[in-house]
Amino acid sequence: MCGILARFGNNTIITPYLKTLKELEYRGYDSFGFFSTDLAQKIINKDTGTIEQNQIQEYSTLTTTSFIAHTRWATHGGVNKENAHPHCDYNENFYVVMNGIIENHYQMRSFLEEKGYSFSSQTDTEVIPQLFAYYYDNNYGDLETIAKIIKKELQGDFSYVLFFENSYVVYKNKNPLIFGINDQDIIVSSDYHIVQDLATQFYVLKDGDIITGKETKFTSSLTLEETTPQHTTQSIPTTTYMEKEILEQENISQIDTSHNREVIEELKQAMKKKEVFIVGAGSSYHAALIMHYKLLQDNILTTPIIASELSSYTHLLEDSLIVAFSQSGETADILANLENVDATIYAIVNTPYSTLDRISNNSVYLNCGKEVSVASTKAFFHQVGVSYLLTQQSFDEIFKIHQASIESIAQQLTNSNQCFLIGKGIYSPLALEGALKIKETTYIHAEGFVSGELKHGSLALIEEGTPVIVLGEDKRVLNNAEEIKTRGGVIIGIGSQREEVFDEWIFSNSYLDTIIVLQLLALFISLNKGLNPDKPRNLAKSVTVR
Ligand code: M6R
Repeated sequence: MCGILARFGNNTIITPYLKTLKELEYRGYDSFGFFSTDLAQKIINKDTGTIEQNQIQEYSTLTTTSFIAHTRWATHGGVNKENAHPHCDYNENFYVVMNGIIENHYQMRSFLEEKGYSFSSQTDTEVIPQLFAYYYDNNYGDLETIAKIIKKELQGDFSYVLFFENSYVVYKNKNPLIFGINDQDIIVSSDYHIVQDLATQFYVLKDGDIITGKETKFTSSLTLEETTPQHTTQSIPTTTYMEKEILEQENISQIDTSHNREVIEELKQAMKKKEVFIVGAGSSYHAALIMHYKLLQDNILTTPIIASELSSYTHLLEDSLIVAFSQSGETADILANLENVDATIYAIVNTPYSTLDRISNNSVYLNCGKEVSVASTKAFFHQVGVSYLLTQQSFDEIFKIHQASIESIAQQLTNSNQCFLIGKGIYSPLALEGALKIKETTYIHAEGFVSGELKHGSLALIEEGTPVIVLGEDKRVLNNAEEIKTRGGVIIGIGSQREEVFDEWIFSNSYLDTIIVLQLLALFISLNKGLNPDKPRNLAKSVTVR
């Protein structure tokens, strides 16, 4: 869940790469760091938090031939300067940035410490440069030979880039790394979009691939797969990415392409022949649940499973049809469980060439552009749109939203400790999604419930003044709202008309509008609390560890 950026080539100014590093912060923003060398000097800079404009400015005169950089989401070792990447060996020759987890790092660390190699961080990553130093010191061979020995020795899912004396090693296992090529330089990144923007050709590395090189030359015994990049421009928002991405949802019809239509038709036919499982994590799981409900309305029964729960049921997945929802296409909970299953997989994915895209039989692309905010909005919205196409429904007219009433309710909720959301049927995944958006962007404890479940336990949570958001217009949900109100709950309705039971009301003309209302509500509360909804505490955008 960390971001990796490396660039090797002719001597050039460092600033564009530092700016690009900032773009990687969505993959982890506990700390950042970079190592750079030009023909005259080596520089290493690391810090906690995110790289700021003044720090980028500080290095504006610096040039670079080799640059490796990292944004961290901490797993092993606390968030401090020492644990920020790059890490180097005791002799400061080998520099490494890594994404993933090395499972046997304690064992390796003890081995190296016994040999007299002293460590300066608590990370698992540091064993990589120290092992390179050990094999180099003991004349085991060239960089490629050493990289192969280390590949066999280290266990876990991780990818890294290493620099040593104008040479580099790129190793990929489970965590994404894309290798880009230009006339003048080599670009390596964990982010497909970044390589797309900086390179004219690129290769998507496969698990176990090692590439070694020097400056712009590289050697690899592998048959690399070449793809044509499509340069994309990503405008920087004036406010937050979350707001920008919510507004971009009005382009929902961009999923309605001939490619997607064909794949969806194929998927529909395949669904008639096999048992269907629908999987995803977080918001993508909620989108999976929405597909489940939409298909139920068409009398098609599917089994939704949360991706992190799949490992216990992989035997049931054999020979089935799996619809896997993932914005990034790199979520480890999905990949680890689907990679070795003998099933037909259809991905609903936003990132072409991502691992999920590549292991799937076919993919429906969300086409909504890079999603930067950790809080997923436009990707979720487009995922829901795919279910509309699948069930041959046209998109409701969207964006008839009364922002002022959302802002006023957001104001009321800003000081709440908790809030609940209830819905029935197709609205129940929206209750879960609304609660997730509120939790991650505002840190208010929010829970979504199937409304009919309340009197089976959760009603006990209602106290005088507890805010409860009621979704949809089903009479039974409104009855449940009455039960809550009788016990002191404050009822906030979201729907097309003001009902008697509502204390407050936000107009929403459609299901899709309700999604946007909930996203805006979370956004406004977050901003009221002075938080940054794009980078919630403890979270990262792409969850590539299990
Ligand atoms: O990339 P994915 O769609 O597979 O990611 C799944 C979840 O990690 C993601 O939806 C997460 O729940 C978001 N932070 C929700 O806003």
